[in-house]
Amino acid sequence: MNPFREDLLSRSPAEPCTVVIFGATGDLTHRKLIPALYNLAVDGDLPTGVRIIGFARREKSDGEFREGLAETARKVSRTGLDDEVWQPFAETITYHQSEFTDTEGYRSLAAKLDAIDSARGGKGNRLFYIASAPEFFDDILIHLKNAGLNRATDGCWARVIVEKPFGTDLATARHLNEVVNATFQEKDTYRIDHYLGKETAQNLMVLRFANAIFEPLWNSKYISHVQITCAENLGMEGGRGAYYDGAGALRDMVQNHLLQLLSLVAMEPPTDLTADGVRDEKVKVIRSLRQWDTPEKVAANVVRAQYTAGHVDGNPVPGYRDEDRVNPRSKTEAYVAVRLLIDTWRWSGVPFYIRMGKRLPKKSTEISIHFKDAPCVLFNTPCGGVPGGNVLAIRIQPDEGISLRMVSKIPGNNLRLEPVKMDFHYATSFGKSSPEAYERLLLDAVAGDATLFARRDEVEEAWKFIDRIEHAWHASENPPPMAGYTAGSWGPKEADDLLARDGNQWRRL
Ligand code: BG6
Repeated sequence: MNPFREDLLSRSPAEPCTVVIFGATGDLTHRKLIPALYNLAVDGDLPTGVRIIGFARREKSDGEFREGLAETARKVSRTGLDDEVWQPFAETITYHQSEFTDTEGYRSLAAKLDAIDSARGGKGNRLFYIASAPEFFDDILIHLKNAGLNRATDGCWARVIVEKPFGTDLATARHLNEVVNATFQEKDTYRIDHYLGKETAQNLMVLRFANAIFEPLWNSKYISHVQITCAENLGMEGGRGAYYDGAGALRDMVQNHLLQLLSLVAMEPPTDLTADGVRDEKVKVIRSLRQWDTPEKVAANVVRAQYTAGHVDGNPVPGYRDEDRVNPRSKTEAYVAVRLLIDTWRWSGVPFYIRMGKRLPKKSTEISIHFKDAPCVLFNTPCGGVPGGNVLAIRIQPDEGISLRMVSKIPGNNLRLEPVKMDFHYATSFGKSSPEAYERLLLDAVAGDATLFARRDEVEEAWKFIDRIEHAWHASENPPPMAGYTAGSWGPKEADDLLARDGNQWRRL
C-alpha cells in the first residue's frame, strides 16, 4: 500500500514500457534490478507488456545474458526462481552490445525500441536506467539526447533513473545535474536512493502522520535526542575496496541514505502527498542543518575511523588498510559518527546522532527516538531509580518493525521497575516478507511517482553539508584525527565520547 499518494492506493495498471538498463553486465543489474523486476512478475505487479533491454560493452548473445541473470536470480531473488514465471519473463529480455560512447550503438538502440513499439501498437514509453560506472553517466545522457531518445512522443513518456553515486561533491553533483537537466526534464528524472524504498522508511510518514499519539510529542519539548545507526558486518569483499577507498563512509552512505532517513524523521507534515509536497519539506531539514564548517567544529561533532584486524561472526578479518584493493596508507574512513543539530523551531537543542560503519558485529539499520524522562521523580528514591526513559525504535532492517520501550512495575509486593517493550514485527503482523526496495522504486518510476526519489535541491543541499566535513578532513592544515576500532566491535571509543559529552549513549542493537 502506498502511504504517500491516495490515488496510488488503488494504482491503475501502469502502461507498457521498455526498460533500458545501462551497465547491464554489472552487479547491480544482476543482484538487484533483474531480481526486482522478476519478483514483481511473480507477485503479478509487473505491468503487462514490459520489455527489458540490457545495454553493455561486453559481447554476449541474448541467451548468454539471460542465463547469467537466471543464475544470480536463483541465488538472490526473495521468491527463489520458478521456471514457469522465469521463462516468459526472460523472453522479454534482450541484450544490446555497445560502447557507452559509440553513437552507432544508440542509433541501433533507437531502431530496436521503435520496432518494439510498433509491435505493441505504437506505445513508446521508455525508462532508461543508468546503472553503469559513474564515469559514463554524462556520455550516456548526452548520447540519449543526440539519438532523440530523451523526448517523449505521441502522449508517451521518456524517463531516466540515475543511480548513485550522484557526484562525489557539490561541484560534480551540480555538473551532473546540469547534464541531466539538459537532457531530461526534472519531472522525468528519478535519482534513486534505495533506502527510501525500504518498507519501514516508507512507513515513517504513516507512523508520524496517521497516528494521533506521536506527532504532539515529536519535538524538542519531549524528545531528548535521536539516533540513526546503519551497521554492516561486511568489509571490502568482492573487490569493493576499489570503489569504497575513493569514497568513504560519509560520501557512500551519509550524504544519501542517512540524510534521507533523517529528513523523513525530522520534516514538518507536508501540505499534500505529492512528490514535491513531500520533497519540499525534506529539503528544508537538510537546509536547516547547523554547518560544521571549521576543523574545530568538525573535530567536536564528527568522528571518523578505520578498523583494525579482528573477528566478525567468529571469523578472522583483516584491518581496513589490508583489505583487497585498499591503499595500505589509505586515509579513507570506514566508520563515521556525526552529531547534527537542526536549527528549526521544532528541533532547537535536540542532537541527532548518525553513525555508519563497516565490519561492525552485525547488519542492522535502526532509527531510535529517545524521549525525555518523566518530569516527576516520584519513583526515583523508593525504587532504586527509573531504568531509562521511553524509546521508540524503528527497525529498518532486518526484522522490520517498531518497538516502544516503557517502564513497568515488576509484579510482586515490592515497587521495583524494569523496562519492557511493545513490539510490532512486519513479518508476524502482515504474514509476509516486505518487497525489496528496488521493486517498489522501479514500479514507482514506471507509474511516474517521484515521491521516493531525491530531487536536485535535496542532493545539492546534502553535498554542501558533507563537503565542509570532507574539506576539514582532507584540505585543512589541522585535520581532525582518524580513530581506530577493532573489526567486530561497535566502533571507536571517540564515538561513545561524542554522545557522552551530551550525557547520552549509543543504543545497543
Ligand atoms: C550502498 C552502499 O548504497 O548501500 C554500500 O554503497 C552499502 O556501501 C549499501 O553496503 C547498503 O545497502 P543495504 O540495502 O544492504 O543496507
